[in-house]
Amino acid sequence: MIYLDANATTPLLPEVLDQMLPWLRDGYANPSGSHRMAKQARAAIDRAREEVAALIGASPEEIVFTGGGTESVNTALCSLDHLTGSGTAVISAIEHSAVLRSVEHQKRPTRRVAVDEGGCLVLTDFEAALEGAAYVSLMAANNETGVIQPLIEAAAVARRRGLPVHTDAVQAAGKTPLDVRQLGVDLLSLSAHKFHGPKGVGLLYVRGGLDFKPMLLGGGQEAGRRSGTENTAGIVGMGAAAACALRYLSQHGEAALALMRDAFETKVLAGLSGVTMNGDTMGRLGNTSHLSFDGCEAAGLLILLDEAGVACSAGSACMTGKQKPSHVQLAMNIPEARAKSSLRFSFSRCNTPDEAMQAADILIESVKKLRRVQGSGVGPVVVYSP
Ligand SMILES: Cc1ncc(COP(=O)(O)O)c(C=O)c1O
Repeated sequence: MIYLDANATTPLLPEVLDQMLPWLRDGYANPSGSHRMAKQARAAIDRAREEVAALIGASPEEIVFTGGGTESVNTALCSLDHLTGSGTAVISAIEHSAVLRSVEHQKRPTRRVAVDEGGCLVLTDFEAALEGAAYVSLMAANNETGVIQPLIEAAAVARRRGLPVHTDAVQAAGKTPLDVRQLGVDLLSLSAHKFHGPKGVGLLYVRGGLDFKPMLLGGGQEAGRRSGTENTAGIVGMGAAAACALRYLSQHGEAALALMRDAFETKVLAGLSGVTMNGDTMGRLGNTSHLSFDGCEAAGLLILLDEAGVACSAGSACMTGKQKPSHVQLAMNIPEARAKSSLRFSFSRCNTPDEAMQAADILIESVKKLRRVQGSGVGPVVVYSP
């Protein structure tokens, strides 16, 4: 199978697994204990804390390990909700459902700031939305289109007004450099499985000196900021994945991903008519390609690609199975037919340029096949037959 669904999740790197295994087999001691085995687990967690802090330019004390991206986002937004006065929550219209559902749950009103047709936050609208705001949450890069958001500029505007800023950087991590000081954010959420670490572990960066209210209460782990016995193996895996990501980025990994993705797109566009690239092609993560294919239903195309050995997604992974444009596509004003014919291909360091070319060939053949079938009036139901 050629796996082009890295924005949904990434393969665990072998070196990450190797570092986790001893903690799954023998390193089972509770890191809060006082004996030697416990202290070894504590030391491993502290090392991982330094590794993940280095990935985002933070201090280790500013890192809170969590149970994944969704938990980090919910914790950040709950804390902001409790600690800021009345006022609106300002978010973008293209946030992940972790942010959308979390702010919906709060009693305060929310303002969803528009994006342009390229899927990029409209800064003038954002600035206007800050009137009467209590806090801001903006994603660093979008999970469906890969479009990188003007976070540095937006956070600077919010900061000038004294508003705290959270960023959901789950999709940006490991694909593009991240530095919390340069971004100027107070809170930042990450998830290990999006950059070749294990699932079910994430982190929340909490800027030193920021008022913070924990969401999970209990034994007071993570300096009282997230109770619950630490997932030592998962945390060690996240640390190892962060160290690998940092090395990869310093060795021009971002450019290597973009080269592979661009070659894939060039081949697809040369081999097919009626293909539209969605999202600002100049400001995307190097790994993401969001394409629409005239006359093709995404659901049918996904099945043909799956049968031919290519794994990808329609819209975002969380939307799969729902036959309506995603909120991201609606915010970008993508016409309904184009939205329903769109697929997301997301590459990772585990793909090869050869695979990208093979996937392009398979995609071209699959689109031609589907167009023949759908054009014949038989309907897409034909693609469901073996
Ligand atoms: C932008 C974004 N935020 C948050 C999440 C949630 O992360 P997790 O799956 O680790 O809970 C995802 C996962 O798809 C995501 O893409």
